[in-house]
Amino acid sequence: MKPHYMITTPIYYVNGAPHVGHAYTSIAADVLARFKRLDGYDVFFLTGTDEHGQKVEQAAQDKGQSAQNFATMVSAQFRNMADQLNVSYDDFIRTTEERHIKSCQALWQKIADAGHIYLGAYEGWYSLRDECYYGEDELTTTQEGKKIAPTGAEVKWLKEPSYFFKLSAWQDKLLEFYEQNPKFIGPESRRNELLSFIKSGLRDLSVSRTSFKWGIPVPGDDDHVMYVWFDALTNYISALGYPNIKSSDLWRFWPADLHLVGKEISRFHALYWPAFLMAAGLEVPKRIYSHGWWTVEGEKMSKSVGNVIEPLKLVQEFGLDPVRFFLLREVPFGGDGDYSRQSLINRMNNELANDLGNLAQRTLSQVMRNCEGKLPEIGQRHQDDETLLSKAILLPTLLREQMDRQALHESLETIWKIIRASNAYIDHQAPWTLKKTDPQRMTVVLRVLVDTLRIIATCLQPFIPGAMDKLLTQLGVSESERQLSDLETVIPAGRELPAPSGIFPRFVEAE
Ligand code: MSP
Repeated sequence: MKPHYMITTPIYYVNGAPHVGHAYTSIAADVLARFKRLDGYDVFFLTGTDEHGQKVEQAAQDKGQSAQNFATMVSAQFRNMADQLNVSYDDFIRTTEERHIKSCQALWQKIADAGHIYLGAYEGWYSLRDECYYGEDELTTTQEGKKIAPTGAEVKWLKEPSYFFKLSAWQDKLLEFYEQNPKFIGPESRRNELLSFIKSGLRDLSVSRTSFKWGIPVPGDDDHVMYVWFDALTNYISALGYPNIKSSDLWRFWPADLHLVGKEISRFHALYWPAFLMAAGLEVPKRIYSHGWWTVEGEKMSKSVGNVIEPLKLVQEFGLDPVRFFLLREVPFGGDGDYSRQSLINRMNNELANDLGNLAQRTLSQVMRNCEGKLPEIGQRHQDDETLLSKAILLPTLLREQMDRQALHESLETIWKIIRASNAYIDHQAPWTLKKTDPQRMTVVLRVLVDTLRIIATCLQPFIPGAMDKLLTQLGVSESERQLSDLETVIPAGRELPAPSGIFPRFVEAE
């Protein structure tokens, strides 16, 4: 039986159109999901939309639409974005779906029955934008006397009856859990942040609202709707069929291997979610990894500045694979990054078109011209050949370890080292000269290059699936030979290769 692996993106708020920040989380999760499939895992990759809450209700009102219609429209935009970005999700969950609503109510009931929820009253500083309360000590005051949350959102004093989750009772259990599972939170900086937050003392968490209606009703008390984070986090198990644990074929994927999130929502996933699950007697996910945030040409992305980058426009202009590549290559995953048009073009032209595209083109056109378009014999290899190949064949092992740490940028750099080594090799061996002086040696060199390119292209599939599909076809690798494990099998000489054509066009700025 194949080992299984469950990975998720956050579910996206439907209060506005998707932008490059959302695309980033989804593409990164897609790379990880594709890598695991490539490595022989049975993968369940979940994404979707978070549709309840006051923000969505308000956004719909502003547009003169019902919350449900508005949510349906924006949810479709997110699904379309995922499809256009070649995000290989297995399920797309919407929190307004019946299966999710039932699941949330079941989870609530389970936690309430176990005595972890009680009715009280809540008052405090509430941020509509962040959909959460903040402690007085977390706020700053503007010159006009407005109170501002650490995220920059304005907060208002609010009092309402509310159900509470006894989070304070979980403090020690959580600390013990983090202690025993040092890899639960990544990167390390987020872990330290969370530990100090918990050590400063946990308060019970308000988990219902009476001030608006657009949410999932609390079982047995229709005046309350569930706090949107209780609702949203539950998506990860409602998609697996919770509470039908025994009859659902998907429940085998729980606990999830990885919840990939942005850094601002790390706390909800690493603290509240495990506490809810523990209170319900369910297993806790294996790892929460947070990535950083993108700015645009040095500035925060925002509608009011008018610098929001729409992912589909980028794809239209540059093509999908260059955009996927840029987002994951440009910044160390886990850190913040800056989008700049020029750096995208540079990456595209220098690394895709020059480094990899030319290497493939030079190799394949020589095979076409000088080896009758057939995969050359392996022949007698020299030390230089062995050196290059032995480095290349280490890629799967190195990548496995890096991907399990979500070090996506390290994986790309590791692959690029081999690409640069291959370019040095082709320049040094100069097969175009060997053609006249030693044609037998030329075929050996070309075969080494084809084999190295096959390893490179196989490993790059999760990042740039479209272009690597083309390259693997040009290298004569059939669709059933593209798993990591297939790299252990030599492709027999003599296989006919299709005529090569460029895979990465250079981007030339219009005059
Ligand atoms: N609905 C919640 C998540 C609930 S999960 C149970 C939410 N949605 S969101 O639409 O606001 O954000 C979803 C993801 O987009 C987050 O991972 C967030 O980090 C990412 N990004 C939004 N803007 C971003 C940038 N500017 N840069 C990088 N990613 C950012 O939070």
